[in-house]
Amino acid sequence: MKKITTLVLLLASCLWHFASAQEQYREQYRPQIHFSPKEHWMNDPNGMIYFNGTYHLFFQYYPGGITPGPMHWGHAVSKDLMHWKELPTALYPDSLGYIFSGSAVVDSNNTSGFGKNGKIPLVAIFTSHDPKGEKAGSDKTENESLAYSLDSGLTWTKYSGNPVLKNPGIRDFRDPKVMWYAKEKKWVMTLATKDHITFYSSADLKNWKKESEFGKEGGAHGGVWECPDLFPLTLYGKTYWVLIVNLNPGGPNGGSATQYFIGQFDGNKFLAIDNQTKWLDYGPDEYAGVTWGNVSNRRLFLGWMANWSYSQQVPTVKWRNAMTIPRELALFESNGTMYVKSTPVKELSSLQKKSAGNKKSLKSKVLPRQCLIGINANAGSDFSITLSNRAGEKVVIGYDKAKDQYFIDREKSGKVDFAESFAKVAYAPRFTKEVNSQLLLVVDQSSIELFADGGRTVMTSIFFPSTPYDHFALKSAKETQLISLNSVW
Ligand code: FRU
Repeated sequence: MKKITTLVLLLASCLWHFASAQEQYREQYRPQIHFSPKEHWMNDPNGMIYFNGTYHLFFQYYPGGITPGPMHWGHAVSKDLMHWKELPTALYPDSLGYIFSGSAVVDSNNTSGFGKNGKIPLVAIFTSHDPKGEKAGSDKTENESLAYSLDSGLTWTKYSGNPVLKNPGIRDFRDPKVMWYAKEKKWVMTLATKDHITFYSSADLKNWKKESEFGKEGGAHGGVWECPDLFPLTLYGKTYWVLIVNLNPGGPNGGSATQYFIGQFDGNKFLAIDNQTKWLDYGPDEYAGVTWGNVSNRRLFLGWMANWSYSQQVPTVKWRNAMTIPRELALFESNGTMYVKSTPVKELSSLQKKSAGNKKSLKSKVLPRQCLIGINANAGSDFSITLSNRAGEKVVIGYDKAKDQYFIDREKSGKVDFAESFAKVAYAPRFTKEVNSQLLLVVDQSSIELFADGGRTVMTSIFFPSTPYDHFALKSAKETQLISLNSVW
């Protein structure tokens, strides 16, 4: 009898936990196919690495509230880039300051010497941001530091010789992205240094030598350069290097945004192949995007689905902000110029609901809670799709022939008055001469990601309707396909 009672109690407690976990991720505005922390403030993705079959996502995190505070690194893991499990906070502030953005590497050859008993160290390289120095107006408040983990990123030890790279007197000196440069068997650090990038190299991650600078003259300079990344991509059998530089403010639709350069990198310096300013995502709500450092054969990108202009005012209660859908990057050419395109990773299709008739060529006009919408349209004229609710709130996505631009209009999308810069129409150029336009929309509770023309134009936008959009209407589109998705929680 006693055994049965215990069993029943155990079962009840499991069910209760399951139910409350489910409820936890069902709050108003909670993304159902994007990563967001259970609670509290989140910004940039950090330290993204792939290790022993697991994708690691660290992130700027303040576990004490829903606005930024002393920054930590939060931690989540996934096997498929869709279902994330949040783990205990990885890095805590220390005597050198808050833990700002940075990267992580798998130090397979134990160049750092942090490995013990044959265990491969994961090494995090991050910015120590000293709040006292900041208050005092010092220009040396940001320095680069290390921590290592011998248990797959669960627990971390700070290096006793921190900081490993000292600030030479540049106020914004942060967000190190480190990669292994195999050709010369050395580590290369790409660092955002106010209005340009500085490259450093190291044999052991502890001693860094300055190599070169890039970008004082080129690209967009409407704000501070932050969160860079450097990696190779191939087009027509030739390797190019892509340098991502996040910028705040100064984005194409206001506030923060991700620009990039394409060029050559020889282990010492980066040379851009042209002077054009290029944006990875034209929408207002992708920022601080960088890539997973060590995934072979694909370059996987993830951004913070927010904008510094209003991210601290968005009307969520328990948590603030989410990440974009992970995307795969590739090069393409348009009119003799090279660009980067992005498409959602193929793993997204694993969320498709299996129910019969899920893939619909749609007349029904009922919008599922989270879904993919494919649209075929003719860019010879305007076209649009409107997502709306009974309260008359709506977001309109489409193409404006006169401007020859795609747009997302969230002026009447619901709650918009929490910040002046929110209720706007965002525009983006079209990068193809084809008459046919193909749009893929990734729709979630409070966000839309538009991938047009195979990812040549990308826009991300968030919104906060008083009740979820449950209806859609098309204008001048030739064909539509709608696929309902399962929640990842
Ligand atoms: C970018 C950023 C980084 C910095 C971090 C602090 O969003 O400003 O430059 O390291 O956020 O949270």
